[in-house]
Amino acid sequence: VDAVVVKLGGSVITDKSSPFKYRGEVVTSLARAMVSSSQKMVLVHGGGSFGHPVATTYGLSSSPSRATPDGVSRTREAMFKLNRLVCQSLSSVGLYAYTFSPFTLVQKAGMSASSWIKKIIDAGLTPVTFGDIVIEGDGFKVLSGDTISYELCRILKAKRCVFVLDVDGVYNNYGRLIREITRSSLNLKFKRADDATGGMRLKLIEALKIASLGTQVALVSGFKIHEFSKALQGREFHGTIVRNSAQ
Ligand code: IPE
Repeated sequence: VDAVVVKLGGSVITDKSSPFKYRGEVVTSLARAMVSSSQKMVLVHGGGSFGHPVATTYGLSSSPSRATPDGVSRTREAMFKLNRLVCQSLSSVGLYAYTFSPFTLVQKAGMSASSWIKKIIDAGLTPVTFGDIVIEGDGFKVLSGDTISYELCRILKAKRCVFVLDVDGVYNNYGRLIREITRSSLNLKFKRADDATGGMRLKLIEALKIASLGTQVALVSGFKIHEFSKALQGREFHGTIVRNSAQ
């Protein structure tokens, strides 16, 4: 599928400093840029100040644990709430969402994921999914939107994947933006993640996996719409690109 997978980071679409604070204007301007790019897209969004605080309260993280039913249910409730808000912003500028739970990635109506996603795109809709709580072993864990983005790129053989962040990209230990990163950048010291998933380090691990599929990977700020538009279209932009070191 000739599509771009776009991961909207939770720190962009929500204000992480305050619980349940949605950034409608930011999502609306990102959506406008997506509409005018005329790219086929599949969107994934993170949890930000909706999913993460609830997940953390109930002890849910990216490693499986025996979660309580209320924790699983309330975290998902927060994510679905955020998803409704995102979809409303998208449709307000003419980007029509087809939300699906990442679990559905496996099969729908007997079709493989790549073929039903393609049909949805061909119908003029934009498939949208989000970080979720899933079963692993005999426990539950947070499935990060970054991991879902990797799965989507793999299944769809996506041409490009754009991670939309609240910063310009990846910074080195001296605070300088790294324009191009490869596997060796994993030696950088990243701040300990303060959320339910892995922060920048886990994002880079997923980004490198995506690059090794042959998909172009871009990390760009969601607050610089012009740079986001360029990244979306595969043009040169201010941010970080991730390369498979074997290339
Ligand atoms: C987290 O998804 C989802 C839940 C907390 C349930 P992500 O890990 O992709 O979210 P962000 O982008 O870091 O907020």
